[in-house]
Amino acid sequence: MSVDLAKAARDPIRLGILLSGRGSNFLAMAESIREGVLPGVQIAVVISNVAEAPGLAKAREMGLPSAVFVSQGRKRAEHDADLTACLQAHHVDLVCLAGYMRLLSPEFIAAFPNRILNIHPSLLPAFPGLEAQQQAFEHGVKVAGCTVHFVDDHLDHGVIVLQRTIPVLESDDAHSLAARILVEEHLAYTEAIAHVAGGEYEIRGRRFVKRNSSR
Ligand code: GAR
Repeated sequence: MSVDLAKAARDPIRLGILLSGRGSNFLAMAESIREGVLPGVQIAVVISNVAEAPGLAKAREMGLPSAVFVSQGRKRAEHDADLTACLQAHHVDLVCLAGYMRLLSPEFIAAFPNRILNIHPSLLPAFPGLEAQQQAFEHGVKVAGCTVHFVDDHLDHGVIVLQRTIPVLESDDAHSLAARILVEEHLAYTEAIAHVAGGEYEIRGRRFVKRNSSR
């Protein structure tokens, strides 16, 4: 199922952004929307599971609707039920995980089938999980990058929307590599949201296929 194209023509596609930290991917999306790069897309709500997340403070400064549901010490299913209710109350069409560092329950994922995107700082399926850039650097890869994918019940696993790559330089350390991957992440997330919000795609098995495209 793709995001409803008829709705895209009629109403804005409403994003619900989940973040736990810095929020640079969220800010890049917000900037793309402000610049008119994502026509018909708007941020409906920014939600964090961490009260002190800098990304959440930025959302508030920008006057965007926001909410905090502190996850620490709470049962996953109960916490995620609060998230679901909040996203539904804000009529969210597409959930974007932007550095949301908590696993989601199967119930949450089922509530938004093929409507949750995640960005991961590696070329999946390589280096899932935490500190992906460090993992890639330590493994000695020559090409690194990031992946935007739909979220399914397995960690960093769902259908891949797009990937961006960069060479690993002789001069790189894990820190510089992560910084250069982050630049690509910001471009990748906007591009992926544009594809998904446009609705011109199909999911065939594990493949994200743009309509009218042989790729
Ligand atoms: C980003 O590098 C993102 O890819 C990563 O967390 C960082 C969040 O940065 N996410 C994951 O590793 C998820 N598995 P940001 O808060 O500045 O967007």
